[in-house]
Amino acid sequence: MAEKDREKWDKKYHDKPELLDSRPPSKFVAKYHQECEGKQALDLACGSGRHTMFLSENGFLVDAIDISSVALEKLATNMKDSVNLIEADLDTFEPKQNHYDMIVMTNFLDRDLIARCYDALKDGGIFIIETYMEDDDNEKKDSNPDFLLKEDELILTFYNGFKRLDYEEFWNEDYEKYRMRKQAIAVQKGRQMQIKYNQ
Ligand SMILES: C[S@@+](CC[C@H](N)C(=O)[O-])C[C@H]1O[C@@H](n2cnc3c(N)ncnc32)[C@H](O)[C@@H]1O
Repeated sequence: MAEKDREKWDKKYHDKPELLDSRPPSKFVAKYHQECEGKQALDLACGSGRHTMFLSENGFLVDAIDISSVALEKLATNMKDSVNLIEADLDTFEPKQNHYDMIVMTNFLDRDLIARCYDALKDGGIFIIETYMEDDDNEKKDSNPDFLLKEDELILTFYNGFKRLDYEEFWNEDYEKYRMRKQAIAVQKGRQMQIKYNQ
């Protein structure tokens, strides 16, 4: 599976290098990075690195993960020392525990990975997910349904242990080839309650 992903994405980026052109960050990343208490970030499936670059330019130390060596090699050409580029398969990737102030997953969906990231966030850390969802009017009809969010899925994913900061559904950016509906959420991991007992 992962080997197929690597071949697919390396070929895509090789055949269409414009996919690695610089793009603006997602609205929620641009807004909520300012509310992080610390500066450790994880960019999952970083691709062209739009969030890796944005966060590093804003003082974050970023672990940027992707399976495509073509994407990572391009990113390496203009990356700061504060970025750690990691070629890895997110199907099996285990993030550092209790380490990150912000985790970003955009235009990529791996439900098991989302669950594996709960403990990677510090208390008070912010998780931002933004990706495509099911919609009858989506132009790309052959999208794999496993990679499309269901109605309200992100809200239901974070029903417990997280405070919802923001949520939106919208049509994707004009620069994308197909018009597709998206969901975006920003949540903050709840702080553990400090319960003191009288001895
Ligand atoms: C549509 S791009 C999203 C890039 C970026 N997150 C953004 O929003 O611009 C999807 C990325 O997922 C990466 N990817 C796909 N399967 C993967 C896997 N199993 N492990 C790691 N990265 C993977 C691809 O190489 C590609 O760069």
